[in-house]
Amino acid sequence: MATAVKKSPVKKSNSHAKAASHAKTKHEVKTNGQTSQSNGAIRSVLKEKRVFKPSAAFSKNAHIKSMAEYERLYAYAEKNPEKYWAEIAENFHWFKKWRKVLEWKLPYAKWFVGGQTNICYNALDRHLTTWRKNKAAIIWEGEPGDQRVLTYLQLHREVSKLANAIKKRGIKKGDRVAIYMGMTPELVVAVLACARIGAVHSVIFGGFSAQAVADRINDAHAKMVITADGVFRRGNALNLKSVVDEALVNTSSVENVIVYQRTKAQVHMVEGRDHWWHELMDLASDDCPAEKMDSEDPLFILYTSGSTGKPKGILHTTGGYMVHVANSHKMVFDIKDDDVYFCTADVGWITGHSYLVYGPLINGTTVLMYEGAVNYPNWGRLWDMIERHRVTILYTAPTAIRSFIRAGDEWVTKHNLSSLRLLGTVGEPINPEAWMWYYNVVGKKKCPIVDTWWQTETGGIMVSPLPGATPLKPGTGTRPLPGIAVDVVHKDGTPCKADEGGFLVVKRPWPSMLRTIYGDNARYEKTYWSEIPGMYFTGDGARRDKDGYIWVMGRVDDVVNVSGHRLGTAEVESALVAHSAVAEAAVVSRPDEIKGNALVAFVTLKDGFEGNQTLKESLREHVAKEIGSIAKPDEVRFAAALPKTRSGKIMRRLLRELATNGEVKGDVTTLEDFSALEKLRQQEEEE
Ligand code: WTA
Repeated sequence: MATAVKKSPVKKSNSHAKAASHAKTKHEVKTNGQTSQSNGAIRSVLKEKRVFKPSAAFSKNAHIKSMAEYERLYAYAEKNPEKYWAEIAENFHWFKKWRKVLEWKLPYAKWFVGGQTNICYNALDRHLTTWRKNKAAIIWEGEPGDQRVLTYLQLHREVSKLANAIKKRGIKKGDRVAIYMGMTPELVVAVLACARIGAVHSVIFGGFSAQAVADRINDAHAKMVITADGVFRRGNALNLKSVVDEALVNTSSVENVIVYQRTKAQVHMVEGRDHWWHELMDLASDDCPAEKMDSEDPLFILYTSGSTGKPKGILHTTGGYMVHVANSHKMVFDIKDDDVYFCTADVGWITGHSYLVYGPLINGTTVLMYEGAVNYPNWGRLWDMIERHRVTILYTAPTAIRSFIRAGDEWVTKHNLSSLRLLGTVGEPINPEAWMWYYNVVGKKKCPIVDTWWQTETGGIMVSPLPGATPLKPGTGTRPLPGIAVDVVHKDGTPCKADEGGFLVVKRPWPSMLRTIYGDNARYEKTYWSEIPGMYFTGDGARRDKDGYIWVMGRVDDVVNVSGHRLGTAEVESALVAHSAVAEAAVVSRPDEIKGNALVAFVTLKDGFEGNQTLKESLREHVAKEIGSIAKPDEVRFAAALPKTRSGKIMRRLLRELATNGEVKGDVTTLEDFSALEKLRQQEEEE
């Protein structure tokens, strides 16, 4: 841990930073998980005893008011899951009702078979016949401070116009459209316009590099790109269009590019291919009926990291995704009509898809959306927005919470946050000390915290407290939602005993589950359905305590959570070995106080290259160029050789130990060349 503190760019200058670092020593390995793995078994080391019951006042007005009510609902859903989900599905608009709730041919699920609906219709049109027509759908703030409000009616109009505009440019039902934009309302408009006409959106996070954009466009054969000239981030205008231009050199499927003007940056428009958003919108009609979509028609592809080099295109479909995402949003966030709901996730990630765009809008919620960095121009920005917009629900990531702890309480306490009634977290395990800070300093001991466990693949929240019902324990997502059959099991699928570490699985299909990996059924079957017989394997290790609470301990595969972003170490490795100086690379993670995990790259060089500081920097830059800045290794270490087993496999476990503790105590009996490890260790001492 000393390494993390020493290397951290943020200077500690106040008592809370000390509290955070103290917390860290006490709970050491718990940030990135409470796992310690040896010989394939998982041991759990965290024991947390504090319990926080919901207040009577909160429970009284909540959708689910008590644990008894939750238990009843859970048992009801267990007894007849299809009936449970069908009853929820009745709350939505269907052009045609389904014939069959579920068709399950392991591992392929179809939900609400034969039903026809449109998720954009459910998110917008449905509200237009109610008083919500003039309710704020999106309250938006740009990083420089500019503000806009779009009512449901206005949003519907923008979406309909863009839908017509993209149809006119040749996009039909089933075509893939890549969206590469900053966090402006137009990003939401673009997503919903695709859904409206049945085009499959593939949102690519605005921080990805040209190469990563090209890879995603090629994998999905996207016909169109919707982008912006740029986005404001930490006071700079980043140019997005130039990244798209560079990406398109290596793609052949894209016929048209639509460019939203945000920063007024100089951009190069290619005649016939590139079109200004505002020019198309000026010409477009605002009458565009929502396409009748089959429940199982694809809705979107979202790429996420796996344990091999190639990102996986997670495919979600229409009806089931809509039903679970909207229903879980309502239950978990206890959504009411007067809420102002602030989700800080970017729409480029699944949290933005499900809980900034689809869930909230289907529920007619007012969403606060923000373009930039939550600490720009200073650490008060987030709290200032909460105060000014009277935010009632805040949903953010543990990594953000940890960096706020470090910045100091005064940024938070000088603002009036009395409007807040509920807090949420997502993306990685939250360490109990960060949870306590969130609860005490932000929530003033009156706001329940919903720690929501889920994944890009699950589409929606799977494990989470229900805020009016569930007694909370810091650091756990508590119990699965009704209808969700989550369990912790051994490798052979038998359930673990209470407090015994094991693999987190889902035992039954659920409506918003991924349907496949786009274009790669074999990989879908292998990754999720072959590890543990007959069950969906999440890739996470967990334990279940005596109260049935799930404690997620972190990934058990080669996926790492850095600042709440999922990265495959293999992806970073393949970027590194693509560099002309690199012979071999192994990337592992070590715990980091703020980011949860930091990436450490062990690199062997080709003959004739010298491992110096300049090369370290250029390797880091190289990864940023291949994938994006989020994947830059925090540390690059050169080695004469990497430790390997007799069969030639790199022993990442040893490298992980070395990166974390500076020494290796684990079992090294299978190590081929012990001197390689010894050299790395000595080097560490010298540095
Ligand atoms: C981790 C984000 C502990 C987990 C929605 C999972 C969590 C991966 C939590 C998915 C949580 C997410 N507690 N761990 N509340 N939420 N994770 O696909 O390892 O970006 O498998 O989806 O994040 O990351 P993804």
